[in-house]
This record gives sequence, C-alpha cells and structure tokens, in this order.
Amino acid sequence: MPHYFSQGQVPHKRHTQFRKPDGGLYSEQLFSTEGFSNDYSLLYHIHPPTVIIGNDTPLDVRPKVAEERMLKHRCFEGFNLQPVQEYLQSRVPVLVNNDCHISLAAPMQSMTSSFFKNADADEVIFVHEGTGTLHTQYGQLSFAYGDYLVIPRGCIYQIHFDTPSNRLFIVESFSPVVPPKRYLSKYGQLLEHSPYCERDIRTPQLAPAIDATGDFLIQTKKKGMLYGIHYGHHPFDVVGWDGCCYPFALSIHDFEPITGRVHQPPPVHQTFDAHNFVICSFVPRLYDYHPQAIPAPYNHSNIDSDEVLYYVDGDFMSRKNVTRGMITLHPAGIPHGPHPGAVEKSIGKKDTQELAVMVDTFHPLQLTEAALVLENDDYVMSWAE
Ligand SMILES: [Fe+2]
Repeated sequence: MPHYFSQGQVPHKRHTQFRKPDGGLYSEQLFSTEGFSNDYSLLYHIHPPTVIIGNDTPLDVRPKVAEERMLKHRCFEGFNLQPVQEYLQSRVPVLVNNDCHISLAAPMQSMTSSFFKNADADEVIFVHEGTGTLHTQYGQLSFAYGDYLVIPRGCIYQIHFDTPSNRLFIVESFSPVVPPKRYLSKYGQLLEHSPYCERDIRTPQLAPAIDATGDFLIQTKKKGMLYGIHYGHHPFDVVGWDGCCYPFALSIHDFEPITGRVHQPPPVHQTFDAHNFVICSFVPRLYDYHPQAIPAPYNHSNIDSDEVLYYVDGDFMSRKNVTRGMITLHPAGIPHGPHPGAVEKSIGKKDTQELAVMVDTFHPLQLTEAALVLENDDYVMSWAE
C-alpha cells in the first residue's frame, strides 16, 4: 500500500523526543517491510511494544495436506463448512502451496480475549457474509459484504462481528500483496486506467489509545505454529502513526470492470498482485458488444497456473449448478471451458450479475483433508453431456 497516510499525533520530526502530558516519552516503533527496504510506518505507543510477560506452549496449526499431486478439475462446496465459535479455529485451509494458503471460515464469535498477528503472511480477507469491525493498532475498519480486508503481516488485529452469521474467504500471502504494477505510476499513484483508485481504498480510523496494563495475549502465527505471547500492555495504545504500510479495505463493489467489443482476458479482472499468484474480481458488467460476440469465455489452457474461482453471488453464464461459496479448481495442464450449452446460451445476453473472486497461482496447489470433506466428486465429469 504505497500511499502516505497519517493519523493521530506524531512528532514534527521522526526519531526525536515525543513526550506524553506527564513528561515521559512515547515509544516509537518502526513497522517496516522487506527488511528496511520497502514501505514502512512509524507508530507511537504509550508503552513499549516489547514487554513480554509470558509464553504459552506453541500449537501446530499447519494445514494437513491430503493430496500433494493431482491433475483433475475439482469442486468444493464452501458453505458446507460448519460454523465454528472461535475465529482462529474457524479458519480452515483448503488449498495451499509455498506462495499462498487459501482458507474458508465461518466464525460465529468476535475475538475478545486475545489478539492475532500473522507473522508470515499478508492476509486478504474477503467478506462474503457478515458485518463488523476490524480493530488494529492503526485504527478501526468497518467491513461488510464484498469487502477485501488487506492486512500486512505483523499487524496485530482483533476481528469483531455484528452477528454469528459470517462467511469469509481468506488468502494468506507469503509475499506482499500489492496493486498490479501496470496500474501504478512511477511513484505509486493508481493510474487512470486502473479499475480502482485511492478514493476506493478505505483506511483505518484511529480510535482513542487504550492505556491499560495487564495480561494481553497476542496469538502469533509463524511457520505453521501458533505462539501465545503475553504482553504487559494493551497493543492498541497507539496515539498516532504515519507511513505507507497499514491495513485497508477495498470493496469488490468498487472494482470497475473493464469490458470490450470481444471477450476480455482474465487479467482485466486482476485486483491484487503477489509473488507467484494474483487475485482477481469478477463483478457485474456489460457483456462484449461486437455484433457477433460470444460473451461466454473460450476454452482455455492455463498452461502454467492453477485457477481457483470462489463463487460469491449472481448467475454464472459459463457454469451450471453453481452454489454460493463454491470453489472450483482448474489445474494447470488440462484445458477447461464453458459447460455444454453455455456458449450458445450466452449469445445475445447484454450483461451479467456474476460476482466471484479468483486466485491464479503459478505453482500447483495442494489439497487439504478439509477440502476433500467439502468436495463434489461429480464435477470432473460435468462437461461430458
Ligand atoms: Fe478459467
């Protein structure tokens, strides 16, 4: 997230004395990415962010891979995942590789007794169902249906839901999640041809700093282990911060589709970029307007990427029997395309109401045990009619 932003109080000059009303010094924290060589923020805490008072026994939360290698079209009924009370326990990895982990979650409860920090991965949480507020050191972000919450690794957060009815599609990225480079100016502004711009990006609103001493558990995920680290001060004791690294929200409903006279290729839907994978948004849009256009996609061989589609809402012109929360996985190596009849059916249609999130990975994905439980085994034969 390259845009400079500032909230609350910060000293006139960085790394200089910044004093509290009682004369003591605020604690400055540099939050930097890619070592000290990329975007960063400076946060000012009432207390040092370093006061550890206890450590729990670590928990192994590595995904349980069931299929390391395969070559078959797959389909998973995401909404068959049972809701779980606790947020962290509700996150179920389904498709994983060394670049990203894709999870589903149906959490029922807000986090109240602990905080979470993903020390390995930027997180993109797509909100399919539910509303609430993401509480972070940088402030609060309210969220609703269709929001992408993009949380940089290392950011401490607590997620609060308004109701027990929530469905999330989560991508953990082991490299920074950024806008596609082709949409950025030399200095990082989103260009005129970008499908979204700075006005669409919602930044956190800093809440009053919480000055509290006690026992605050930050569940910290690193290399597949969850470490319970207890701190002596509330982590949201920030009076001000500035910089270019912070969590933000972008609604899929603010993604402006790029359309054309003939079928546009998948990169027009790209929303975020990361190392070895992309995240795309398929949103309601006008269909191709060449008089002979075929709005349904052509058969395609994504020779070097696995293609994951998460179906959110609306009708899908190229597929039958689509359910909300369904995931399809079309692996690299075999072509896929519209279901029988879908091509003819699409001709003459003026628009589509489809809403979906796509993750294309440049290395094969592995399937977890949890994915197999959700699988629709008939899918692979669904073109043979
Ligand atoms: Fe495809």
